[in-house]
Amino acid sequence: MRILSSSYPLFLVAGLVRAQTGVTDPITEKCGPSVVCVNKYANVLPYHFFRNLSTSSVASTFGDTTVANGTQLKDAQNADFLVFDKERGLEVLGSNPKYEYVFAVSKAVHEAPVYVASQNKLYLSQLAPPPGYLPQLIIDLNQDPPTLSEFLSDPPVYAPNGGTFYDGKIIWAASGGNRSIGGTEQRVGLRTLDPNTNKTTTLVNNYFGYYFNTIDDLVVNKKTGDIYFTDPQYSWFNSLTDTPPQLPSASYRYNRTTGAVFLIDDTLSQPNGIALSPDDSILYISDTGAVSGPVDPKYGHPGTPFNATGHRTIYAYDVSSDGTKITNKRPVYLAPGYVPDGLKVAANGYIVTGNGRGVDVLDPAGQLLLTVQTNYTVQNFAWTGPELKTLWLMGQGGISKVEWELKGQELK
Ligand SMILES: *[C@@H]1O[C@H](CO)[C@@H](O)[C@H](O)[C@H]1NC(C)=O
Ligand SMILES: *[C@@H]1O[C@H](CO)[C@@H](O)[C@H](O)[C@H]1NC(C)=O
Ligand SMILES: *[C@@H]1O[C@H](CO)[C@@H](O)[C@H](O)[C@H]1NC(C)=O
Ligand SMILES: *[C@@H]1O[C@H](CO)[C@@H](O)[C@H](O)[C@H]1NC(C)=O
Ligand SMILES: *[C@@H]1O[C@H](CO)[C@@H](O)[C@H](O)[C@H]1NC(C)=O
Ligand SMILES: *[C@@H]1O[C@H](CO)[C@@H](O)[C@H](O)[C@H]1NC(C)=O
Ligand SMILES: *[C@@H]1O[C@H](CO)[C@@H](O)[C@H](O)[C@H]1NC(C)=O
Repeated sequence: MRILSSSYPLFLVAGLVRAQTGVTDPITEKCGPSVVCVNKYANVLPYHFFRNLSTSSVASTFGDTTVANGTQLKDAQNADFLVFDKERGLEVLGSNPKYEYVFAVSKAVHEAPVYVASQNKLYLSQLAPPPGYLPQLIIDLNQDPPTLSEFLSDPPVYAPNGGTFYDGKIIWAASGGNRSIGGTEQRVGLRTLDPNTNKTTTLVNNYFGYYFNTIDDLVVNKKTGDIYFTDPQYSWFNSLTDTPPQLPSASYRYNRTTGAVFLIDDTLSQPNGIALSPDDSILYISDTGAVSGPVDPKYGHPGTPFNATGHRTIYAYDVSSDGTKITNKRPVYLAPGYVPDGLKVAANGYIVTGNGRGVDVLDPAGQLLLTVQTNYTVQNFAWTGPELKTLWLMGQGGISKVEWELKGQELK
């Protein structure tokens, strides 16, 4: 019986092999051009194996794992797609999956992608640095190849960190606060952009007079029109607001008719991505507390070092039929790479999340089906195109795209 794959000749040393049982064999195999399948989730790795912890500057991926005292999983490291569930993962990829690195961008955070189907344009944001950077970016998909340009709304909106499209408008989670920037005062809030006129409107900018901390991401309940949003504390940590947090980390619901803001959860250390299942019955919120800093202003803007034992979990909640309450919180997925940053649900209910150097696709139970691997840290992503089968990813140092069979939810 062949106990270990011949691609790991170190194991052929007699005696060592016998010391271990159940070793996954082979650990990986080629499943297509730039597609590598990981067998049985690599459930038993040959000793001595090791995977580096992520750091704020470099997120580790499964392909960074070494086995047998240093043998690298080169094929896993280099593949664009790493498939863990062969049947459903390959179904997501379809017969001709493609990954392409399209735009080199700065190391600044790139966020809030929103596809405006009527224009066939993808709006996104670039957060500071440079300090006080006010414009957003637009990818024009009508051009071949697509073009990337700056966009300034009227009036400008500082630091959108999340966004969606609803009722003809982009809704931004504006995460920045600044007493004087580009001739305006900016406070954290929900803002809309009409892509036909470039005009923006503020929906809400305070909680009974207090500044929100960092409205980070949002999603609209299609049945009620209410907006659910997360409010972690990143803007203070990352110098995107001039005021230290006045509120705990929390998630809220906003009723546009009354203007009222309701607390829906205050149990997460840094609530970040927020997304709804296609029927609006399950709300997912990620806790990215593994990247955070002290809120006490005596430390200034502390940045966000990565802490491997902090929270990096996606939670699911049941949404009440009137959309007002979320209950039955349960953990769904612990992000192994970095933290589950961007979070969206595909048209078939699969959960997609940014996770350091790539994007993970999970079933609703939280089983990892596949990972799209990137060479930069991904913050967020959005589906584009007539069938919503292209996924654009963006983050610190890159914008790339995936062509596959996984469709996004239609936003209108
Ligand atoms: C872990 O990271 C350190 C520092 O970045 C690096 O020197 C080392 O080679 C890495 N080890 C593995 C096994 O990847
Ligand atoms: C790994 O290193 C240990 C300690 O030096 C040694 O006992 C073992 O034989 C090595 N394993 C392999 C697969 O080379
Ligand atoms: C506020 O904006 C100014 C530019 O007008 C910039 O120099 C400063 O760094 C910004 N401060 C914060 C905390 O964003
Ligand atoms: C909105 O901004 C875009 C990009 O700068 C520009 O091409 C377009 O003409 C503007 N639309 C209006 C109505 O001003
Ligand atoms: C929002 O407020 C309006 C006006 O009171 C109300 O009719 C509507 O039901 C509220 N939405 C939800 C989801 O409760
Ligand atoms: C990392 O997170 C753990 C769990 O929240 C906490 O106990 C620990 O103090 C944190 N470490 C640092 C350096 O912040
Ligand atoms: C990622 O890879 C592309 C080529 O595929 C390269 O142009 C780019 O510089 C790389 N980016 C980073 C951040 O390593």
